[in-house]
Amino acid sequence: MAAIVVSKYKEADEFLRNATLKQGLYDEGAILMKDVLVNLFGEEHAARRHLAQKLFRREYFRNYERRIFPKTIEETLVPFVQAGGGDLADFGYHVLMNLTADASGIDRPLRTREETATMLRMIKSFSKAATLGQLTMVDMGDKEAIRKEIIDTLEEFDQVFYTPSETRRRALLDRVERGEMPESEMPRDLLTILLRNEDNIELPRDKMLKETAYFLFVGALSTTHALTHAMQHIFTWRAEHPKDNELLKEAWFLQRCVWESLRLHPPTPELNRKLTCPVRIKSRPETFESGDLIVDMFKVNQDPLMFGFDTEAFNPHRATPPQGWLYGVTFGLGTHACLGRILVAGTPIQPGSDLKDAEYGNMYLIARALLDRGARPDPANPPTMDTSNTRRNWLTYPFLLDKG
Ligand code: HEM
Repeated sequence: MAAIVVSKYKEADEFLRNATLKQGLYDEGAILMKDVLVNLFGEEHAARRHLAQKLFRREYFRNYERRIFPKTIEETLVPFVQAGGGDLADFGYHVLMNLTADASGIDRPLRTREETATMLRMIKSFSKAATLGQLTMVDMGDKEAIRKEIIDTLEEFDQVFYTPSETRRRALLDRVERGEMPESEMPRDLLTILLRNEDNIELPRDKMLKETAYFLFVGALSTTHALTHAMQHIFTWRAEHPKDNELLKEAWFLQRCVWESLRLHPPTPELNRKLTCPVRIKSRPETFESGDLIVDMFKVNQDPLMFGFDTEAFNPHRATPPQGWLYGVTFGLGTHACLGRILVAGTPIQPGSDLKDAEYGNMYLIARALLDRGARPDPANPPTMDTSNTRRNWLTYPFLLDKG
């Protein structure tokens, strides 16, 4: 049976809010993905999401982007400033992996480049679990080899990172319980929330291990690609619209650049669902009895009814749609909508709005830090595109910085 393909924003909105639809993207990567939040269904999904949401509160975003992340950006920038530049993807991986490690609750006690490289290798291996279903060129033998690699990496992750992080948090929780440490000193991260399990849901160790591994890779990889795209658009816009150079210093305009780039480059090209019962939506006449649903993220994000004319072009002056976000469905909608959305993209900043109340989002903060240090493309080394799949991500993006 042919899949139901969705390319209109309104339809995507209605379908993705329908809780009878089941996740359909990750069956092939079950070895890691089976029990993680994004793959759960019904009550089990609602209960796990409710627990995880205890982390993603407004004061968490505020505290993180004002107190913790700026230091991470500065720390990561040091070798790049000393070298007068580097590669955007390399910079992005390092800074964003630290962000998602903090959010997941995976400690990096050494904070060395070697430790970061080990974690990055593991994350890249885990991410294959999410894309196994989309690998059309890979034969079953190769898929088995990838599954074996993921199992081995999970074991290594458990020993090197997860067990020490869990042990430290359990000891801290015991100290809080005994009144030896104030609650306010507890780390604020997903692993602590899962260990505490205030909702008392069924959550054995294996599920916590996989959930933290999932958080690590889902945040770091998608944001890195998104960041390189955003910087490319900002560099090009600046060169072609010198009148907007001053505007780029304004928070609202830089945030719009980031959001417009997110609209054009959703890191997940499609969302998939399976129907578990007949479904009707207001914007289509027919009843859908059964089958699979594919939300074409690129087409939905370029729906002229939502985003106006010229929707394939980057235009940070584009009007915000009356209902919805300038970045479209890039963070999903409804039942499985991204929990990291505000951490990544912030909340809308208007011209003249009070920045004391702003959540900028980490992509904005990184773009601002790079621009403040004179980031620009390296004219001697043009960027190269990854042509091995349809995602059109940048493989390399050499950039220059003013030397500090
Ligand atoms: C540019 C960066 C990111 C993009 C574009 C993105 C996009 C998405 C999308 C499209 C979904 C929905 C999947 C579906 O409906 O099947 C999703 C779910 C999710 N995202 Fe993100 N994400 C990003 C970063 C992050 C970060 C940094 C975190 C955490 C620190 C995160 C955590 C999650 C979680 C936990 C879910 C599953 C929610 C659920 O199933 O209830 N994401 N993300």
